[in-house]
Formats: sequence, C-alpha cells, structure tokens
Amino acid sequence: PHVPVICIDGPTASGKGTLASETARRLGYHYLDSGALYRITALAALRAGLALEPEHEQRIARLARDLPIRFVDGTVLLAGEDIGEAIRSEDAGMNASKVSALPAVRSALVALQQGFRTLPGLVADGRDMGTVIFRDAPLKVFLTASAARRAERRHKQLISKGVSVTIDTLRADLEARDARDTQRAVAPLKPAQDALLLDNSDQTIEQSVAQVLAWWDERQ
Ligand code: C5P
Repeated sequence: PHVPVICIDGPTASGKGTLASETARRLGYHYLDSGALYRITALAALRAGLALEPEHEQRIARLARDLPIRFVDGTVLLAGEDIGEAIRSEDAGMNASKVSALPAVRSALVALQQGFRTLPGLVADGRDMGTVIFRDAPLKVFLTASAARRAERRHKQLISKGVSVTIDTLRADLEARDARDTQRAVAPLKPAQDALLLDNSDQTIEQSVAQVLAWWDERQ
C-alpha cells in the first residue's frame, strides 16, 4: 500500500522538530527527526577518533551505514547508551552539519530514513526530505522564520536548560550552519519545487500545526 508522508524542511531552529512531531502526534503518524541521524553519526565518528573531514568520508560513511542505534520510548540509544542529551548541543549540531556535507555519508543514511515510512504514515523533518528522500511526498512544507526570531527562540530554550550563551553568538552560529547547509554540493537546503512555504516568525506553534493539517486535509 502507498504510505502517506509529510515532509517538513527548513533551516536551523525554524521549529521543524516541534511542528513535525506535533503534526505526527495529531495524525497518529510516525515521526522522523532526520537531523538526529547526522548528529548521531558525528558523535559516533568522533568517538571512533575520526576528525569530521573529507579525508575520512568513506570511514564515516561506513559508520553511518551500520549505526548501532535503537529508538526506545522517545530516547535514542547508541550501542545501548542513551545519547539523547549528547546530540542536542549546539556543538553536536555544528558537527552534524560537517558530516552531512559528505556525499557518501548522505547516501549511507538514505535507506535508514526511507525505512521510517510505514503505515499509517510518516511526518519527516530535515533539510532534504522533500528534495531527495521522499521526493514523491504529497505534502512538502518549507518552514522558515527570520534569523532574529530563530536565535531568540533557541536562546530561550538554552537559558531554560541553564546554558549561558548570548543571542548574538547563537545567531552567528545558526547563520554559519545555514550557509554550510545551503551551499553544499549535495542535497543543499532549498525548498522542493512543489513545496509550500510557511513562515512562522509571527505564528504560535498551534497556528503552524493548524496550517499544515489544513493543507493535509485538502489533499485527502
Ligand atoms: O535539524 P538538525 O539541526 O538536527 O540537523 C543538524 C544538521 O544535520 C543540519 O545542520 C544539517 O547540516 C544536517 N541535516 C541534513 N539533512 C537532513 C537533516 C539534517 O543535512 N535531512
């Protein structure tokens, strides 16, 4: 049977994860956080003593192909260890961005990502869900928000976790990550031709979710 999939792509800290997971919850669909796979790959590579550089592309790709991961009750286990916290830091995001620019690493993760597409359906978030991984998806959303708003939201999140960091540093970091993701040769961050644009700078999460659900209804 044909398994429905909704893609939500967009830049760093645009709120993709929140929007995608909430949409999945409301529809009773599965949820794929594809960025987590790049974050985990980077962590696994660093732990194996590999610098995240093109000279190690093939070795990192091999690690990515055989990641010993399991998703259990909302936690991610790497070789049995809960790495949920370790992969959520800003550094982990920057490291993910480095390994994700290596084409062999991207190919190594294709099958794993496509395997999440099971009944009753999937909501997937990332950078290339609509352009590469689920090209035939009936609904593709490209989610954006101004850099100022994204830095502000990320700042609030980190402060609430007790991390001390300035908005300016965060904004510079996320703009650097956007630049790398947009300029890389393979699967760069860009809206799919058939993507619908959603700017959530001035929206609540509920409003964004309602918009995506309304678009999804139109397609049924
Ligand atoms: O979405 P998240 O911030 O967790 O992603 C971390 C990094 O992984 C991104 O900056 C991007 O470089 C990479 N990524 C990617 N393709 C995806 C998801 C994430 O290249 N589908």
